[in-house]
Amino acid sequence: MDYQVVIIGGGPGGYACAIRCAQLGIGVGLVEERQLGGVCLNWGCVPTKALYSATRLLDRARTAGDMGLKFASPSIDLPTLASWKDGVVSTLVGGIETLLDRNGVDLFRARGVLDGPGRVALASGEPLATERIVLATGSSPIEIPGFSFDDPGVWSSDDALALTEIPERLAVIGGGVIGLELATIYRRLGSSVTVIELLPEILSTVDLDRRTLSVLKRSLREQGIDVRTDTAADSYEKANDALVLRLSDGGTVEADRVLLAVGRRPTTRDLGLESLDLEPDPRGFIPVDDALRTGVEGVYAIGDLVPGPMLAHVASAEGVALADAFAGGEMEPLDYDAIPQAIFTDPEIASAGLSESATKAAGRETLVGRFPFAALGKALGMREPEGFFQVVADASDHRILGAQIVGAEASDLISEAAVALQSKLTLEAIADAVHPHPTLPEGLKEAAENALGRAIHTVNR
Ligand code: NAI
Repeated sequence: MDYQVVIIGGGPGGYACAIRCAQLGIGVGLVEERQLGGVCLNWGCVPTKALYSATRLLDRARTAGDMGLKFASPSIDLPTLASWKDGVVSTLVGGIETLLDRNGVDLFRARGVLDGPGRVALASGEPLATERIVLATGSSPIEIPGFSFDDPGVWSSDDALALTEIPERLAVIGGGVIGLELATIYRRLGSSVTVIELLPEILSTVDLDRRTLSVLKRSLREQGIDVRTDTAADSYEKANDALVLRLSDGGTVEADRVLLAVGRRPTTRDLGLESLDLEPDPRGFIPVDDALRTGVEGVYAIGDLVPGPMLAHVASAEGVALADAFAGGEMEPLDYDAIPQAIFTDPEIASAGLSESATKAAGRETLVGRFPFAALGKALGMREPEGFFQVVADASDHRILGAQIVGAEASDLISEAAVALQSKLTLEAIADAVHPHPTLPEGLKEAAENALGRAIHTVNR
């Protein structure tokens, strides 16, 4: 046997699993055909956040006049912005390579294909023989009938993040997480943006309360992003260099580029699943049990390949938990209810656990507390008064069930709630902890106090 574990796919799931296996003394090989870090580092989370922060600065510079700061109209040097973003990505990718090397993970830079039980064939060289196989090949953007990424006018998120041009008019099909994050970035870069969403509500795949969404929707309107819900893009025609989209309501939208962001599908094509009689479900996911075991002995799957949230931090947590289980026997299933999510719109939205509406639908008696950013000295000083903190807890024992934050730095602020959920803390645990003043996390403390009827800086109901 060459290895105890061979992992196919070097994204946040696969590389984290490999490093933890190596830390635990498990002989591990990692097979990756493209750059290490997968979609998240190369074509997803990391480049998006680099562009999110750069364009936020641009936006703030444009609007700092009411703080008494006047800048000359900022200009965009697109090639420099793109190479700065690429530099952020390559620094992180290089870091992963070093970590794999220092931890003693054997890295195979090749395409890996399943080749029957305990064997992974490599496009170059001998097949690897292994006791266990972990599938971590991630996901890729899907197309819809009539729209193909083969047309240079139709962008995937990869094309949008390549940052080769700023289209004058960008149509985004899909008002989900990717569509809205990229709509925000391109609007700040100066594109006129229309978002076309099939369902009656944006971000419908995330468990968010209406109140949270309404803050975002108002802000999208103020930014000049035109959001059309309950509308499908049926087809398009080319008119000179433009694309004319035909919509289900009979209308049309003219655009210079169309970004298709209608979801992602697990990447299992040509992976050799049939050599193990492993069948994806009808949506393409590989079914697994609580311990991430596929139906085939010794074969596991993690991350975007398996049903559940398609989030880098979930993939990493699954990879690490799996490695720990390989070393220690029983797998400790992840607490999916405690997993946070951060959405980089303007303002940011972050959530962990259940929404208020989900707890209501489940018929639970709850205590709900809220606190506005506008009542925080720090937020006002930052000129970020929009949004609020929300905490939902069980009415009987005050255990926190969920939190939502919409407002500045929500993505950073949610972690306190994630710790509270994971540790099954109560409202009192957050309310009684002294938080430094003046800071944004005071908002979560005040929201917890508000749920208990004792917030100082808002009127309790
Ligand atoms: P998504 O599922 O979040 O959104 C896709 C949207 O497209 C849905 O609202 C859907 O109703 C709409 N849609 C589908 N067909 C359509 C059509 N024909 N016309 C108009 N609208 C249509 O998927 P998305 O944004 O592609 O993201 C994929 C995955 O990646 C999600 O699971 C997401 O959570 C995850 N992700 C998370 C991020 C984060 O947490 N910050 C960032 C990027 C991705």
